[in-house]
Parts: sequence; C-alpha cells; structure tokens
Amino acid sequence: MAKLNVDLDQINPVYRPYLSDEHRYQLFFGGSSSGKSCFLATRAVLDALAGRNILVVRKVQRTLGVSCWNEIQKAARRLGAARLFSVSRSGMTMTVRQTGAQILFAGLDDVEKIKSITPRNGVLTDIWIEEATECQREDFKQLDKRLRGPSPFRKRVTLSFNPTYRDHWICQDFFGGWAEADDAPKPGAVPGRSYADADVSILRTTYLDNRFLTDDDRKALREEKNGYFHTVYTLGQWGARGGLIFTNWRVEDLTAHPPPGRLPVYFGLDFGFAQDPTACVQAALDREARRIYILATFSATGLVVWALAKRLQAFAGRERVVCDASDPRCIAELRELGVAAARARKGPDSVLHGIQWLQGYEIVVDTRCADMIRQLSAYSWKESADGSPPQPRAGDAHLIDALRYALEGEQTGRKARLWPRRAVKL
Ligand SMILES: Nc1ncnc2c1ncn2[C@@H]1O[C@H](COP(=O)(O)OP(=O)(O)O)[C@@H](O)[C@H]1O
Ligand SMILES: [Mg+2]
Repeated sequence: MAKLNVDLDQINPVYRPYLSDEHRYQLFFGGSSSGKSCFLATRAVLDALAGRNILVVRKVQRTLGVSCWNEIQKAARRLGAARLFSVSRSGMTMTVRQTGAQILFAGLDDVEKIKSITPRNGVLTDIWIEEATECQREDFKQLDKRLRGPSPFRKRVTLSFNPTYRDHWICQDFFGGWAEADDAPKPGAVPGRSYADADVSILRTTYLDNRFLTDDDRKALREEKNGYFHTVYTLGQWGARGGLIFTNWRVEDLTAHPPPGRLPVYFGLDFGFAQDPTACVQAALDREARRIYILATFSATGLVVWALAKRLQAFAGRERVVCDASDPRCIAELRELGVAAARARKGPDSVLHGIQWLQGYEIVVDTRCADMIRQLSAYSWKESADGSPPQPRAGDAHLIDALRYALEGEQTGRKARLWPRRAVKL
C-alpha cells in the first residue's frame, strides 16, 4: 500500500472525527457551502486507498459528472494521491492501482447500471448518496440492500443533503432522536452539531464550519433575505412547506440597516420553565409602513423568577413587558422585583386574532434572531378535516406567542412607548 501523509489542515476540524466513523447510516446535512461534499469526497479517496469499495450516487447520472466526480478528482489531487488511481472518465470509475479497490459512480435514473454495478474485487462497502433529498425512500431502501456479502469493513450508507422540507422522508425516518427544541445554532458559537445512536450518526454543519470560504461567500449567506433560503441554506435547518401561517416575513441585518428612528418599541414574554423555554421578544412597529421589526429575542429554560427578572432588567430596562396571562403569580413577582410586567388579555379567540393581525404586517427579523427565524419557518396550521376553526400545529412557537403579547395593545389600541427613548442595544 502506498504511504500517504494526510495533512489534517486540509480537512475542516468539524468533520475530522468522521474520517473513521463506522455507523451504518451517516447523515451530513446543513447549510450550503458548509464543506460537506468536499469532506466526503476527501474521505472517499482515503477510504478507497484503505481498501473500501465505494459507490457514489445521485438521482440523475448527468449531475454526477459535474459534481461528485470533479470533487473526488480534486480531493485526490489535494491529497497528492491522484497518481495512485487509474481513472476512466467514460466508465466513471476510479481504481486504486495497487489493490483494485474502486470508487464507482451511478445515477438512480440508470436503473440497469444501479442493479448490476459491482466492484472489481470483493463487495461494495460504502454508498454515498449526494443530495439525498432528491431521492425517494424506496431508492434509499434498494441501495441499502446493495450492501451485502462478506467484507472486513463495516458497511456504511452516507447521505449528504440540505434540509429542504421537514416533512421529507429523511427527516421522518432519521431525525426522531434529534432534539428539535435546541435545534438553532447559537450565533457566535461553533455551530456544528451532532447526534449518534447505535446505527445512525448525524452531523449538521453550516458555512461557519467551513474555514475555506472567502469573506464574500460568508457575507452572501449571512445576508440571505428570503426567509426559507435563510433557514435552509444559511442556518442549515429543516424548512417548512404548505400550511405555513406566516409567509409575510424576511430576514435583514438590522445593525447594518436599522429601522427608521423613533418607532414605538414593545416587549412580550411567554412563560416556560422546564421543557418549554421562557421566551422574550423585543419588537418595533412602523405603523405607516405596516412593518414589524424583530430587534432581539432570548429563550431560556430553568429560569426561576429572580433570574428571569435579572434577564428582563438587562433586556427591557423599565419598559413594559406584556406577559402570558396564564401565570398571574409570576407576573406579580416580576413586578415586586422591579420589572414593569403587564398581563396580556386572553380571550377565546385571542390566538387567532393575534395571528390575523400579525399577518397584516410585514415582519422583518434581525439576522441574529435565529430562534425566531426557525419558529416562523415552522409555524403552520393543524390540518382539520371537520371544518373546525384553524389552529396552529403544536410545536415550539414561544417567541411568536411572545410577539402576539407584545403587540396586543396595538390590536386593542393601548398606548406604547417610543423607541429609542433610551439606547436600545441591538
Ligand atoms: N477541505 C477543503 N479544502 C479546500 N476547499 C474546501 C474544503 N472544504 C470546502 N472547501 C471550499 O468550500 C466550498 C464549499 O464546500 P462544499 O463541500 O461544496 O460545501 P457543501 O457541500 O456543504 O455545500 C468548496 O467549493 C470549496 O471551495
Ligand atoms: Mg454539496
């Protein structure tokens, strides 16, 4: 076996633990330009050199030639390993000269090839399905069955993809153990996040995990304005489709493009404790332009009242904070502790009215409010077959609830305070 000194600096740190991961099902998903394809191409080259036989698959054969094929050639060159392979572009195969181990490529649209493809020596040990969301569940099952026969290697199926829609079969079949509640990458922190059980490993990465990007690449992703694209391609979170309650929102860097001066500012709070977070939002309202700006949010679990009061003093100062009416005692205690906590009115139709009112405005969310962006992209109607009034589907929408409370006075004509009356820290 030819010796190859791999310079680990060529591999983004977040992926390094996966060089030798042996889970049967490995999912690499997240935002665009996060380095998924580059890493998996690099790993394929190293794995072939170690004796594995790898089948690289995409839905459409034609797209392989311009994506994975090139990525793997580039990876082989970067590793200084190109000379160790004999390459047939027409047959779409790469063979390790010394051992005969192979990297093979096939599109799911080439059914005959998919059925018959076998490596020169031994059996397939790996299948990498690139852009796996293009494939059906049945495609995946058929491919999974192709990994059989004796081999010294653990067999693996690797899926790489952007998280297009949360009702996708991949989300349904593999993300049961992935905790949605803390799904949002925290701004500033290293956002790579992982999960593993006996059979499955999942890694989510975003552009922030890819140290090979230019500042321009990063800027384009950070400033993506379309709400859906921002969720899927910038944050790398499952997008939503159909039955969405709010489509009237977009993401904007409000530090670079602040809202016009002297807008009234509002604070709303939804109580939580153990499972559900306590969620608080700061919003400004431009009545004339019919626009709501989401300036800042925080969500936290396990906050006892005095700790919450401290957070609120820092977050809202002496401003009125309109709170969820369900916990009058907590509101009273917050007032004792110097927070101008007020109680939201809660009629039987208040949720629906609040939603309809918010739908009449354009909602502009600051780029740093990742939790709010996630909630807005997932907030959808419950399906009802019996014609009962619409109801939001259960799920994490605490910041949206807090927003309804914050602006409740506007719906009923109560007065609010002016912004910026004191310096509001963005
Ligand atoms: N290990 C690496 N070495 C050099 N460049 C890299 C590496 N990883 C990523 N890149 C650069 O980042 C870009 C985006 O990475 P890519 O793997 O295509 O992301 P994803 O598949 O997550 O969208 C690549 O086109 C390449 O320019
Ligand atoms: Mg890719």
